[in-house]
Amino acid sequence: MQIIHTISDFKNARRRISGTVGFVPTMGYLHEGHLSLARRAKADNDVAVASIFVNPTQFGRNEDFSKYPRDLARDVALLEREGTDIVFAPEASDMYPEGFATYIDIEGPLTTRLEGAVRPGHFKGVATVVAKLFNIVQPTRAYFGQKDAQQVLVIQKLVSDLNGNLDVVVMPTVREPDGLAMSSRNVYLSPQQREAALVLSKALRLAERLYGEGERDAECIRAAMRRLIEAELLARIDYVSVADCSDLAELDVVDRPALVSLAVRIGATRLIDNTPLEVLQ
Ligand code: PAF
Repeated sequence: MQIIHTISDFKNARRRISGTVGFVPTMGYLHEGHLSLARRAKADNDVAVASIFVNPTQFGRNEDFSKYPRDLARDVALLEREGTDIVFAPEASDMYPEGFATYIDIEGPLTTRLEGAVRPGHFKGVATVVAKLFNIVQPTRAYFGQKDAQQVLVIQKLVSDLNGNLDVVVMPTVREPDGLAMSSRNVYLSPQQREAALVLSKALRLAERLYGEGERDAECIRAAMRRLIEAELLARIDYVSVADCSDLAELDVVDRPALVSLAVRIGATRLIDNTPLEVLQ
């Protein structure tokens, strides 16, 4: 496996690759969710590339950029086990040199609702870094987790609007045996908070159950989820949403493919999770 730290070295290496390239962009501190993407990238392509870059432009001023967990040696060892061929781990000064001035700002509901409403500027940072990484890596396929469902929609829009020459592959959320969605931020949780964090997946299972039993009133589903979460003393709701999958507009009636999503603070740690609801008659 090669570990490349500069954009110019990566571009040189890229010129020597002739087959298909599968790309897994990450911010490191990898867990089984990332590794499932790496495994799939390796299985589907001639060459598998993963990037590790904690992207400063997608963090708000009061967010956890400086304390975001980092462990490059551990990440590299995990990726090596999955057969990843190249790890690209650039410095921020290379990605955003003095005078950097070009950002990608996707207009409209996909970037302003839900995460976009709570984290202004977040998707501008994500779209910008992902576009830069796509330009550098030139992947045939790029792999993202359903856990960040809104990010997936934003990246699909980016690729479609800018005529990207790659396929975006979306892989299911990987969960701990007790249901907690895997996230690099789970390391922030104390044992008591870790227990309280189960309220996210429990609320999603409740939404699925209500929907399965025939409930189509979206506000009834949101209200039931909110009640369940509010019963957990350590949890503070940022949002609970039952929205149209295409534009993330809140639904009155679940009569089309919907995304149930939520963001909840457990102490100082902000966790997100989601589940799609297929149309059942
Ligand atoms: O999902 C992430 O880890 C990040 O948002 C991404 C896609 C690597 C961009 O920094």
